[in-house]
Amino acid sequence: MIGSGGREHALSWKLSQSNKVETVFTAPGNGGTQNNVSIGISDLDGLADFAQKNNCFTVVGPEDPLAAGIVDKFNKLNLKVFGPSQKAAQLESSKIWAKDFMKRNDIPTARFKIFDDAQKAQEYVKSLDYNVVVKADGLAAGKGVIVCNGNDDAISAIQTILVKKMFGDAGNRIIIEERIDGIEASYIALSDGDVAIPMASSQDHKRIFDDDKGPNTGGMGAYSPTPIIDDELAKIIQEEIIEKTINAMKNEGIPFKGFLYAGIMLREGKPYVLEYNVRMGDPECQPITMRMDFDLYDYFVACVEGKLSSLPPTSWKSQFAVCVVLASKGYPASYPKNDEITGFDSITNGAIVFHAGTKKHNDKILSNGGRVLGVTALGDTLDSAITNTYNAAEQIAWSNKYLRKDIGQKGLSYI
Ligand code: AMP
Ligand code: GLY
Repeated sequence: MIGSGGREHALSWKLSQSNKVETVFTAPGNGGTQNNVSIGISDLDGLADFAQKNNCFTVVGPEDPLAAGIVDKFNKLNLKVFGPSQKAAQLESSKIWAKDFMKRNDIPTARFKIFDDAQKAQEYVKSLDYNVVVKADGLAAGKGVIVCNGNDDAISAIQTILVKKMFGDAGNRIIIEERIDGIEASYIALSDGDVAIPMASSQDHKRIFDDDKGPNTGGMGAYSPTPIIDDELAKIIQEEIIEKTINAMKNEGIPFKGFLYAGIMLREGKPYVLEYNVRMGDPECQPITMRMDFDLYDYFVACVEGKLSSLPPTSWKSQFAVCVVLASKGYPASYPKNDEITGFDSITNGAIVFHAGTKKHNDKILSNGGRVLGVTALGDTLDSAITNTYNAAEQIAWSNKYLRKDIGQKGLSYI
């Protein structure tokens, strides 16, 4: 398993339950993952070397190594690896590529225009009679998107990305797109390049403060399933977004193998793709994984071998799962590290604490990142899953712990 976040801890946890998996190594892993290997996610040679020597089936968690071509490299070496090729990863690594792809394949998304000149971008914004979102083209750790309210906001966003280069070369070009006001949900599927099978639905909470206030983060909590995506809507998203994407990628000669994540905005019941990710969501992965009643390893192997259609349908626990992220105060800006975290042994209600920004030091767990832990629990109802999760989250303590108090409430208001 490549990565060090909560997503990778959850996937490692699930894969280690398969009787076909002998050992799960995680590179570089965190304070909660087992069998950590100290090779960074950008050291593709080091990772390939380790995989070769240990006869590994490799699963790539985050987008950066995918965008850097890890899958192509492993394939050339005949190493088994789960994830999309570098070209297919452009769905996430270049927002402009993804928007053009959606446009030419008639996949519903916000109308947009591309700019590399700040002056022209500003003039364009002034000519519009709707609100916009300004996005850096390249990868910016989930932060290269500025949702604007009015022209002044938009002009300052253009300055931030194109002129001040806040996101470096990722902001050499920008997308200015229509702001779609609606309800967001995450729809993730698993594909072998030919067919796509849906994972359970989920909803993230991207803003740092309660009631979706404050700046965007990587995600402060998630729950699954979400009542926002009912069966009828799931069918529409599956057919008109996911299958259309997989078919179009195949027709363009870039078959997509891996997790395909569509960030969906629902406006008046109609789904629009805000973004693609070419990997599991984090923290969506934590509650989704906890509800899986199938051997994930079998599905990963089938994706790599192009045999997904030969597997039985996936089965899911009917319970709800909720994950609340415990972050370091200050995140998504700067935050302290190296605080000792306590309380892990006090969790008795079946909740699982997935680690993200943690490290082990002399048998102690220390904070080591912005998003530190993802406490995840099941419940027969969304309400009881929320209660179970927050009861567990209360047991965990450190001096700079911060969490949102309202994870899952958006879903409750739908039931
Ligand atoms: P992205 O990285 O493209 O998903 O953008 C991050 C967040 O910005 C999304 O999860 C949305 O909350 C918001 N966002 C992105 N594009 C739009 C849009 N066209 N309209 C409204 N909100 C958006
Ligand atoms: N939680 C959103 C993401 O993984 O991009």
